[in-house]
Amino acid sequence: MRICDLISKKKKGGALTFEEQHALIDGFVQGAVPDYQIAAFLMAVCFQGMTPEEPASFTQVLIESGDTLDLSALGCPTVDKHSTGGVGDKTTLIAAPLAAACGCTVAKMSGRGLGYTGGTIDKLESIQGFRTDLQNDLFFDLLRQNHLAITAQTGHLVPGDKKLYALRDVTATVDCLPLIASSVMSKKIAAGSSAIVLDVKYGSGAFMKTVKDAVALAQTMVDIGRRAGRKTTALITSMEEPLGYAVGNALEVSEAAATLKGQGPADLKTLSLALAAEMCALSENISRKEAQKRVQQALDSGEGLQKLEAMIRLQGGDPTNLETKLPTASLAQPVYAVEDGYLSRLDTEEIGRIAGLLGAGRAKKDDVPDPAAGLILSKKCGDAVKAGEVLATLYTNRPDKLQEAQKAYLAACTFSKEKPRLSPLIAAWVDEDGVHPADEPLA
Ligand code: URA
Repeated sequence: MRICDLISKKKKGGALTFEEQHALIDGFVQGAVPDYQIAAFLMAVCFQGMTPEEPASFTQVLIESGDTLDLSALGCPTVDKHSTGGVGDKTTLIAAPLAAACGCTVAKMSGRGLGYTGGTIDKLESIQGFRTDLQNDLFFDLLRQNHLAITAQTGHLVPGDKKLYALRDVTATVDCLPLIASSVMSKKIAAGSSAIVLDVKYGSGAFMKTVKDAVALAQTMVDIGRRAGRKTTALITSMEEPLGYAVGNALEVSEAAATLKGQGPADLKTLSLALAAEMCALSENISRKEAQKRVQQALDSGEGLQKLEAMIRLQGGDPTNLETKLPTASLAQPVYAVEDGYLSRLDTEEIGRIAGLLGAGRAKKDDVPDPAAGLILSKKCGDAVKAGEVLATLYTNRPDKLQEAQKAYLAACTFSKEKPRLSPLIAAWVDEDGVHPADEPLA
């Protein structure tokens, strides 16, 4: 099988077989197929796409490039959750404990962020002593004890995706639907959970800018999950503005804990409850209505908070008075509005970039994010603003970046005279039966 012929087949819009996909990826992982041929293949996929069958088999090929985790020894259904990425998205820290408090076993493998802001692992590592490098035996022990454990993904899981993603990152081939879908689902399926809840973002801070594109991505991922025998559903949710008010690792941990105490921002609470309910409905095989009731009870009774605290303790951190122990930045700088009006749009991707500038993310793989850096919004889309009011407060240990960040934050805000219409937080959900409007009556 000549690799050049496979690239040519894809260039002309043909479909690669499972064996052909294997030849490409195995050769790449083993070093026999050079980067430039894989780069050409990736670009051909960007232009020609994949047939409906190809993403599932490509995902399987990626999975077979490394180890998989078999969670069946736990003897119960397991559930995982994944977000396609967003600014201020700390829902895992809320939804996962809530679902665990409702009896689900949440076996979560998470990534470090590569973009402007941190991933779940970066957020958790802002808690002093918190261990994210759990070996399999310990991961299983913690799941048996507390039904909730979050660990960083090991290098042996889906090495094909790791190598491919690094190449996509430098060949402008990241934002390609079938490649995103197979990349995400290969990691979720390899991590072993029997149910997977996806939070597919749309909007100015997301890969997918429109609901339509996010739905298409969700449908592909749900189909991959179905073909792999995993119960999979997806919520289509807004990233037209940061989720909640806090952006930055320690700031987000603090906001997540506050939400579990019943004091969180409305959008963050609504989405976290919806995701937790979906996790519960899928893994416990109960109706969404029943799942929503249980999850709300877990929040109101404080059992969700207790689950988070137990996880922090079991993984080496100290959850008592957590907020007071998180790292804080040396500088706090408000950004003031210069005009009256309604805040009508926030350039969310730009706010993520600003958080990165303040130190919250990593530009290169080996950078270490500053856990204390980030920002807290004071105004969100739709809020009335008067000139001189605080729009956000920037937190950093990098005094040289403050002026640039302040200017950029102002530029990321758009004001209008009329109160703007807001995009829906949850626009739709997708399961094996199709796409459902978010306001469809619950069953
Ligand atoms: N996240 C992933 O894991 N893979 C992608 O391709 C994009 C986002």
